[in-house]
Amino acid sequence: MRTRYSNIGKLYGTYNGPPALRKGEDLSFLPHIEEAFLLEEDGIIVEIGRMADLQGTVDREIDCEGNLVLPAWCDSHTHVVFAESRYQEFRMRLQGKLYEEIAKAGGGILNSAAKLGVASEDDLYLSAAERVKELIHNGVGALEIKSGYGLTPKSEYKMLRVIQRLKSNFPIDIKATFLGAHAIPKAFKNNRTGYIDQIINEMIPHVSKEGLADYCDVFCDKGFFTIEESRRILEAAYKYGMKAKIHANELAVSGGVQLACDMNAISCDHLESVTPVEIEYLKRHNTIPTLLPGTSFFLGIPYAPARKMIDAGLGICLASDYNPGSTPSGNIPFLLSLACIRMKLLPEEAIQAVTINGACALELEDTVGALQVGFKSNFIVLDGLRDLSEIMYFYGKSPIKQVVIGTNIF
Ligand code: NIG
Ligand code: FE
Repeated sequence: MRTRYSNIGKLYGTYNGPPALRKGEDLSFLPHIEEAFLLEEDGIIVEIGRMADLQGTVDREIDCEGNLVLPAWCDSHTHVVFAESRYQEFRMRLQGKLYEEIAKAGGGILNSAAKLGVASEDDLYLSAAERVKELIHNGVGALEIKSGYGLTPKSEYKMLRVIQRLKSNFPIDIKATFLGAHAIPKAFKNNRTGYIDQIINEMIPHVSKEGLADYCDVFCDKGFFTIEESRRILEAAYKYGMKAKIHANELAVSGGVQLACDMNAISCDHLESVTPVEIEYLKRHNTIPTLLPGTSFFLGIPYAPARKMIDAGLGICLASDYNPGSTPSGNIPFLLSLACIRMKLLPEEAIQAVTINGACALELEDTVGALQVGFKSNFIVLDGLRDLSEIMYFYGKSPIKQVVIGTNIF
Protein backbone atom coordinates (compact mmCIF):
# COMPACT_ATOMS: atom_id res chain seq x y z
CA MET A 1 0.00 0.00 0.00
CA ARG A 2 1.43 3.38 -1.05
CA THR A 3 0.25 6.59 0.58
CA ARG A 4 1.27 9.97 -0.77
CA TYR A 5 1.20 13.02 1.48
CA SER A 6 0.92 15.96 -0.89
CA ASN A 7 0.83 19.76 -0.62
CA ILE A 8 3.26 19.89 2.29
CA GLY A 9 4.11 23.58 2.85
CA LYS A 10 7.62 22.71 4.04
CA LEU A 11 9.02 19.25 4.66
CA TYR A 12 11.72 19.50 7.35
CA GLY A 13 14.56 17.18 8.27
CA THR A 14 15.61 16.34 4.71
CA TYR A 15 19.35 16.00 5.25
CA ASN A 16 21.77 15.35 2.42
CA GLY A 17 23.34 11.99 3.13
CA PRO A 18 23.18 9.99 6.33
CA PRO A 19 22.22 12.31 9.19
CA ALA A 20 24.54 12.57 12.19
CA LEU A 21 24.51 14.48 15.47
CA ARG A 22 23.94 18.18 14.73
CA LYS A 23 26.39 20.36 16.62
CA GLY A 24 27.19 24.04 17.17
CA GLU A 25 26.25 26.32 14.29
CA ASP A 26 24.79 23.44 12.25
CA LEU A 27 22.02 23.11 14.81
CA SER A 28 20.44 26.35 13.64
CA PHE A 29 20.13 25.10 10.07
CA LEU A 30 17.24 22.70 9.58
CA PRO A 31 17.19 21.47 5.96
CA HIS A 32 13.81 21.40 4.22
CA ILE A 33 12.01 21.16 0.90
CA GLU A 34 9.30 23.69 0.02
CA GLU A 35 5.98 22.67 -1.56
CA ALA A 36 6.79 19.03 -1.11
CA PHE A 37 5.32 15.56 -1.16
CA LEU A 38 6.28 12.40 0.73
CA LEU A 39 5.51 8.89 -0.48
CA GLU A 40 5.19 6.12 2.11
CA GLU A 41 5.09 2.39 1.43
CA ASP A 42 4.75 -0.20 4.22
CA GLY A 43 5.75 2.41 6.80
CA ILE A 44 8.94 3.49 5.02
CA ILE A 45 9.59 6.70 3.07
CA VAL A 46 10.19 5.66 -0.54
CA GLU A 47 10.23 9.08 -2.21
CA ILE A 48 10.26 12.76 -1.30
CA GLY A 49 10.28 15.69 -3.67
CA ARG A 50 8.68 18.88 -4.88
CA MET A 51 5.01 18.99 -5.85
CA ALA A 52 6.07 20.31 -9.27
CA ASP A 53 7.81 16.97 -9.92
CA LEU A 54 5.01 14.74 -8.69
CA GLN A 55 4.21 11.79 -10.99
CA GLY A 56 2.12 8.62 -11.06
CA THR A 57 -0.79 7.34 -9.03
CA VAL A 58 -0.91 5.85 -5.55
CA ASP A 59 -3.33 3.81 -3.42
CA ARG A 60 -4.12 6.71 -1.10
CA GLU A 61 -3.52 10.46 -1.37
CA ILE A 62 -3.55 12.70 1.71
CA ASP A 63 -3.63 16.45 1.20
CA CYS A 64 -1.55 18.25 3.84
CA GLU A 65 -3.12 21.58 2.81
CA GLY A 66 0.11 23.56 2.89
CA ASN A 67 0.94 22.60 6.49
CA LEU A 68 4.48 22.26 7.80
CA VAL A 69 5.75 18.71 8.37
CA LEU A 70 8.47 17.71 10.86
CA PRO A 71 10.12 14.42 11.85
CA ALA A 72 8.36 12.93 14.89
CA TRP A 73 10.04 13.67 18.22
CA CYS A 74 12.62 11.18 19.55
CA ASP A 75 12.28 11.29 23.34
CA SER A 76 15.49 9.70 24.62
CA HIS A 77 14.91 9.95 28.40
CA THR A 78 11.71 8.95 30.21
CA HIS A 79 10.50 7.04 33.24
CA VAL A 80 6.91 6.41 32.10
CA VAL A 81 6.46 3.12 33.94
CA PHE A 82 5.31 4.12 37.42
CA ALA A 83 2.45 3.22 39.71
CA GLU A 84 1.05 6.53 40.89
CA SER A 85 1.41 10.28 40.80
CA ARG A 86 3.27 11.95 43.69
CA TYR A 87 0.93 14.90 44.13
CA GLN A 88 1.47 14.82 47.93
CA GLU A 89 5.13 15.69 47.43
CA PHE A 90 4.15 18.39 44.99
CA ARG A 91 2.06 19.93 47.76
CA MET A 92 5.04 19.65 50.14
CA ARG A 93 7.25 21.45 47.66
CA LEU A 94 4.66 24.18 47.25
CA GLN A 95 4.99 24.68 50.99
CA GLY A 96 8.74 25.13 50.74
CA LYS A 97 10.29 21.65 51.02
CA LEU A 98 13.12 20.90 48.58
CA TYR A 99 13.16 17.86 46.26
CA GLU A 100 16.31 16.62 48.02
CA GLU A 101 14.78 17.03 51.49
CA ILE A 102 11.73 15.03 50.46
CA ALA A 103 13.98 12.30 49.05
CA LYS A 104 16.06 12.17 52.26
CA ALA A 105 12.92 11.79 54.35
CA GLY A 106 12.01 8.61 52.42
CA GLY A 107 9.82 10.27 49.79
CA GLY A 108 10.86 10.74 46.18
CA ILE A 109 12.11 7.70 44.33
CA LEU A 110 11.63 5.47 47.42
CA ASN A 111 7.99 6.55 47.58
CA SER A 112 7.51 5.51 43.93
CA ALA A 113 9.35 2.23 44.66
CA ALA A 114 7.00 1.41 47.55
CA LYS A 115 3.98 1.98 45.31
CA LEU A 116 5.42 0.05 42.39
CA GLY A 117 6.35 -2.88 44.62
CA VAL A 118 2.69 -3.61 45.36
CA ALA A 119 1.29 -2.80 41.89
CA SER A 120 0.45 -5.70 39.57
CA GLU A 121 2.37 -6.07 36.34
CA ASP A 122 -0.87 -5.72 34.36
CA ASP A 123 -1.86 -2.50 36.11
CA LEU A 124 1.59 -1.06 35.56
CA TYR A 125 1.37 -2.01 31.89
CA LEU A 126 -2.04 -0.41 31.48
CA SER A 127 -1.08 2.91 33.06
CA ALA A 128 2.24 3.06 31.18
CA ALA A 129 0.45 2.21 27.90
CA GLU A 130 -1.85 5.21 28.45
CA ARG A 131 1.23 7.44 28.83
CA VAL A 132 2.82 6.02 25.69
CA LYS A 133 -0.43 6.68 23.79
CA GLU A 134 -0.41 10.23 25.11
CA LEU A 135 3.21 10.67 23.97
CA ILE A 136 2.43 9.37 20.48
CA HIS A 137 -0.51 11.77 20.20
CA ASN A 138 1.90 14.53 21.23
CA GLY A 139 4.18 13.59 18.33
CA VAL A 140 6.66 11.11 19.80
CA GLY A 141 7.89 8.58 17.22
CA ALA A 142 10.73 6.94 19.23
CA LEU A 143 11.15 6.58 22.95
CA GLU A 144 13.44 5.45 25.75
CA ILE A 145 11.99 4.14 29.02
CA LYS A 146 13.93 3.43 32.23
CA SER A 147 13.34 1.08 35.11
CA GLY A 148 14.44 2.38 38.53
CA TYR A 149 11.25 2.43 40.59
CA GLY A 150 11.67 -1.23 41.50
CA LEU A 151 14.93 -1.26 43.48
CA THR A 152 14.57 -5.00 44.16
CA PRO A 153 15.38 -7.71 41.63
CA LYS A 154 11.73 -8.76 41.46
CA SER A 155 10.34 -5.26 40.92
CA GLU A 156 13.09 -4.12 38.56
CA TYR A 157 12.42 -7.15 36.32
CA LYS A 158 8.70 -6.46 36.54
CA MET A 159 9.27 -2.91 35.25
CA LEU A 160 11.56 -4.10 32.48
CA ARG A 161 9.04 -6.74 31.38
CA VAL A 162 6.40 -4.00 31.19
CA ILE A 163 8.74 -2.03 28.93
CA GLN A 164 9.22 -5.13 26.75
CA ARG A 165 5.45 -5.45 26.45
CA LEU A 166 5.20 -1.79 25.43
CA LYS A 167 7.89 -2.45 22.81
CA SER A 168 5.86 -5.30 21.33
CA ASN A 169 2.51 -3.54 21.38
CA PHE A 170 3.27 -0.04 20.06
CA PRO A 171 4.28 0.97 16.54
CA ILE A 172 7.16 3.21 17.70
CA ASP A 173 10.73 2.17 18.53
CA ILE A 174 11.24 1.85 22.28
CA LYS A 175 14.62 1.39 23.99
CA ALA A 176 14.77 0.01 27.53
CA THR A 177 17.25 1.18 30.15
CA PHE A 178 18.03 -0.64 33.40
CA LEU A 179 18.24 1.94 36.21
CA GLY A 180 18.52 -0.27 39.29
CA ALA A 181 20.94 2.37 40.62
CA HIS A 182 18.28 5.06 40.90
CA ALA A 183 18.39 5.20 44.72
CA ILE A 184 19.55 3.04 47.62
CA PRO A 185 16.42 1.13 48.74
CA LYS A 186 15.24 1.28 52.36
CA ALA A 187 16.28 -2.32 53.07
CA PHE A 188 19.91 -1.42 52.25
CA LYS A 189 19.94 1.94 54.04
CA ASN A 190 22.92 0.90 56.16
CA ASN A 191 24.52 -1.32 53.54
CA ARG A 192 25.01 0.61 50.29
CA THR A 193 27.68 -1.78 49.11
CA GLY A 194 25.29 -4.69 49.61
CA TYR A 195 22.80 -3.12 47.17
CA ILE A 196 25.49 -2.23 44.65
CA ASP A 197 26.79 -5.81 44.84
CA GLN A 198 23.27 -7.08 44.23
CA ILE A 199 22.96 -4.85 41.15
CA ILE A 200 26.31 -6.06 39.83
CA ASN A 201 26.20 -9.74 40.74
CA GLU A 202 22.51 -10.50 40.41
CA MET A 203 20.49 -7.93 38.51
CA ILE A 204 22.82 -7.04 35.62
CA PRO A 205 23.52 -10.69 34.69
CA HIS A 206 19.80 -11.52 34.82
CA VAL A 207 18.71 -8.44 32.86
CA SER A 208 21.30 -9.26 30.22
CA LYS A 209 20.43 -12.98 30.06
CA GLU A 210 16.72 -12.21 29.60
CA GLY A 211 17.44 -9.43 27.08
CA LEU A 212 15.45 -6.98 29.19
CA ALA A 213 17.48 -3.80 28.57
CA ASP A 214 19.47 -2.00 25.91
CA TYR A 215 21.30 0.38 28.27
CA CYS A 216 22.30 0.76 31.91
CA ASP A 217 21.90 4.07 33.73
CA VAL A 218 22.98 5.34 37.17
CA PHE A 219 21.76 8.36 39.13
CA CYS A 220 25.27 9.69 39.75
CA ASP A 221 24.66 12.73 41.90
CA LYS A 222 24.88 14.24 45.37
CA GLY A 223 22.95 12.06 47.82
CA PHE A 224 22.53 9.18 45.34
CA PHE A 225 25.44 7.23 43.78
CA THR A 226 29.08 8.30 43.96
CA ILE A 227 31.47 8.36 41.04
CA GLU A 228 33.18 5.18 42.17
CA GLU A 229 29.90 3.34 42.75
CA SER A 230 28.60 4.48 39.37
CA ARG A 231 31.79 3.39 37.64
CA ARG A 232 31.61 -0.09 39.16
CA ILE A 233 28.01 -0.54 38.06
CA LEU A 234 28.52 0.75 34.54
CA GLU A 235 31.68 -1.30 34.02
CA ALA A 236 29.75 -4.42 35.03
CA ALA A 237 26.95 -3.50 32.61
CA TYR A 238 29.43 -3.07 29.75
CA LYS A 239 30.72 -6.59 30.37
CA TYR A 240 27.15 -7.80 29.86
CA GLY A 241 26.66 -5.83 26.65
CA MET A 242 24.77 -2.83 28.01
CA LYS A 243 26.13 0.60 27.10
CA ALA A 244 25.93 3.44 29.59
CA LYS A 245 23.63 6.41 29.99
CA ILE A 246 24.08 8.55 33.10
CA HIS A 247 21.96 10.93 35.17
CA ALA A 248 24.61 13.49 36.05
CA ASN A 249 25.00 16.95 37.57
CA GLU A 250 21.35 17.59 38.34
CA LEU A 251 21.84 18.41 42.02
CA ALA A 252 25.57 19.25 42.13
CA VAL A 253 28.77 19.43 40.09
CA SER A 254 29.50 15.80 40.81
CA GLY A 255 32.10 14.65 38.28
CA GLY A 256 29.36 12.63 36.59
CA VAL A 257 29.92 14.33 33.24
CA GLN A 258 33.60 13.35 33.24
CA LEU A 259 32.69 9.80 34.25
CA ALA A 260 30.14 9.56 31.42
CA CYS A 261 32.69 10.82 28.90
CA ASP A 262 35.47 8.55 30.19
CA MET A 263 33.16 5.56 29.96
CA ASN A 264 32.05 6.53 26.46
CA ALA A 265 28.44 6.66 27.64
CA ILE A 266 25.89 7.25 24.88
CA SER A 267 24.57 10.28 26.74
CA CYS A 268 24.86 12.12 30.03
CA ASP A 269 21.58 13.59 31.04
CA HIS A 270 20.40 16.57 33.13
CA LEU A 271 23.51 18.82 33.49
CA GLU A 272 21.69 21.59 35.32
CA SER A 273 24.92 22.07 37.34
CA VAL A 274 27.87 22.36 35.01
CA THR A 275 30.86 24.68 34.72
CA PRO A 276 33.04 25.57 31.72
CA VAL A 277 35.24 22.61 32.74
CA GLU A 278 32.45 20.11 31.92
CA ILE A 279 31.69 21.89 28.65
CA GLU A 280 35.34 21.64 27.60
CA TYR A 281 35.40 17.97 28.61
CA LEU A 282 32.28 17.21 26.57
CA LYS A 283 33.87 18.84 23.53
CA ARG A 284 36.63 16.23 23.56
CA HIS A 285 34.27 13.24 23.82
CA ASN A 286 31.36 11.62 21.99
CA THR A 287 28.92 11.44 24.91
CA ILE A 288 25.78 13.42 24.06
CA PRO A 289 24.76 16.09 26.60
CA THR A 290 21.01 15.56 27.02
CA LEU A 291 19.13 18.40 28.64
CA LEU A 292 15.76 18.18 30.36
CA PRO A 293 14.20 21.63 30.67
CA GLY A 294 10.94 20.22 32.06
CA THR A 295 12.82 19.22 35.23
CA SER A 296 14.16 22.74 35.76
CA PHE A 297 10.69 24.16 35.19
CA PHE A 298 8.96 21.79 37.60
CA LEU A 299 11.61 21.74 40.36
CA GLY A 300 12.50 25.42 40.02
CA ILE A 301 16.20 24.63 39.64
CA PRO A 302 18.58 26.31 37.16
CA TYR A 303 18.33 25.41 33.48
CA ALA A 304 21.30 23.65 31.89
CA PRO A 305 23.45 26.21 30.01
CA ALA A 306 22.28 25.03 26.60
CA ARG A 307 23.18 28.27 24.80
CA LYS A 308 26.76 28.16 26.08
CA MET A 309 27.04 24.52 25.10
CA ILE A 310 25.88 25.10 21.54
CA ASP A 311 28.05 28.21 21.20
CA ALA A 312 30.98 26.06 22.34
CA GLY A 313 30.23 23.76 19.39
CA LEU A 314 28.43 20.95 21.23
CA GLY A 315 25.53 18.92 19.89
CA ILE A 316 22.92 18.89 22.61
CA CYS A 317 19.86 16.69 22.84
CA LEU A 318 16.57 17.57 24.55
CA ALA A 319 14.27 15.03 26.20
CA SER A 320 11.21 15.06 28.43
CA ASP A 321 12.32 13.06 31.53
CA TYR A 322 8.60 12.24 31.97
CA ASN A 323 8.43 10.85 35.55
CA PRO A 324 6.25 11.20 38.64
CA GLY A 325 8.80 13.12 40.74
CA SER A 326 10.67 15.80 38.85
CA THR A 327 8.79 16.09 35.53
CA PRO A 328 5.25 14.74 35.39
CA SER A 329 4.80 15.69 31.74
CA GLY A 330 5.76 14.41 28.31
CA ASN A 331 4.59 17.51 26.50
CA ILE A 332 7.38 18.05 23.97
CA PRO A 333 5.94 21.23 22.41
CA PHE A 334 5.91 22.85 25.88
CA LEU A 335 9.47 21.62 26.43
CA LEU A 336 10.41 23.34 23.15
CA SER A 337 8.90 26.58 24.47
CA LEU A 338 11.06 26.26 27.60
CA ALA A 339 14.13 25.50 25.49
CA CYS A 340 13.61 28.67 23.45
CA ILE A 341 12.32 31.01 26.14
CA ARG A 342 14.44 29.90 29.11
CA MET A 343 17.50 28.33 27.45
CA LYS A 344 17.64 30.83 24.58
CA LEU A 345 17.63 28.28 21.79
CA LEU A 346 16.42 29.10 18.30
CA PRO A 347 13.41 27.09 17.09
CA GLU A 348 15.54 25.12 14.61
CA GLU A 349 18.05 24.28 17.36
CA ALA A 350 15.37 23.10 19.75
CA ILE A 351 13.63 21.01 17.10
CA GLN A 352 16.80 19.28 15.95
CA ALA A 353 17.80 18.64 19.56
CA VAL A 354 14.65 16.52 19.95
CA THR A 355 14.51 14.96 16.46
CA ILE A 356 17.81 14.01 14.84
CA ASN A 357 19.88 14.44 18.02
CA GLY A 358 17.28 12.52 20.01
CA ALA A 359 17.59 9.74 17.44
CA CYS A 360 21.37 9.75 17.99
CA ALA A 361 20.88 9.45 21.77
CA LEU A 362 18.72 6.37 21.03
CA GLU A 363 21.24 5.05 18.47
CA LEU A 364 18.44 5.11 15.90
CA GLU A 365 19.75 7.87 13.65
CA ASP A 366 19.64 5.59 10.59
CA THR A 367 15.88 5.19 10.74
CA VAL A 368 14.18 8.05 12.65
CA GLY A 369 14.67 11.75 13.42
CA ALA A 370 14.90 12.72 9.75
CA LEU A 371 12.60 12.55 6.71
CA GLN A 372 14.61 10.87 3.99
CA VAL A 373 14.19 7.96 1.63
CA GLY A 374 14.66 4.69 3.54
CA PHE A 375 13.71 6.22 6.90
CA LYS A 376 10.58 5.36 8.85
CA SER A 377 7.60 7.41 7.84
CA ASN A 378 7.26 8.94 11.32
CA PHE A 379 6.24 12.58 11.17
CA ILE A 380 4.12 15.40 12.53
CA VAL A 381 1.77 17.56 10.46
CA LEU A 382 1.51 20.96 12.15
CA ASP A 383 -1.88 22.59 12.49
CA GLY A 384 -1.99 25.77 10.42
CA LEU A 385 1.29 27.18 11.77
CA ARG A 386 2.99 29.71 9.50
CA ASP A 387 6.45 29.40 10.97
CA LEU A 388 8.27 26.88 13.16
CA SER A 389 8.60 29.50 15.90
CA GLU A 390 4.81 29.38 16.39
CA ILE A 391 5.28 25.96 18.06
CA MET A 392 7.08 27.74 20.93
CA TYR A 393 5.21 31.05 20.68
CA PHE A 394 1.77 29.55 21.32
CA TYR A 395 3.13 27.88 24.47
CA GLY A 396 0.89 25.30 26.08
CA LYS A 397 -1.20 24.88 22.91
CA SER A 398 -0.84 21.75 20.82
CA PRO A 399 0.63 22.66 17.43
CA ILE A 400 -0.21 19.22 16.04
CA LYS A 401 -2.84 18.31 13.46
CA GLN A 402 -1.78 14.73 12.78
CA VAL A 403 0.93 12.33 13.81
CA VAL A 404 1.92 9.70 11.27
CA ILE A 405 3.76 6.62 12.53
CA GLY A 406 4.51 4.34 9.61
CA THR A 407 1.16 3.26 8.22
CA ASN A 408 -0.81 4.63 11.21
CA ILE A 409 -2.32 8.09 11.41
CA PHE A 410 -3.08 9.49 14.88
O1 NIG B 1 15.49 12.14 36.03
N1 NIG B 1 16.99 12.42 38.69
C1 NIG B 1 16.65 11.25 38.87
N2 NIG B 1 15.58 10.63 38.44
C2 NIG B 1 14.42 11.26 37.88
C3 NIG B 1 13.43 11.66 38.90
C4 NIG B 1 13.16 10.66 39.88
C5 NIG B 1 11.96 10.90 40.75
O2 NIG B 1 11.90 11.89 41.49
O3 NIG B 1 11.07 10.05 40.67
C6 NIG B 1 14.85 12.42 37.03
O4 NIG B 1 14.60 13.58 37.33
FE1 FE C 1 15.51 10.94 34.57
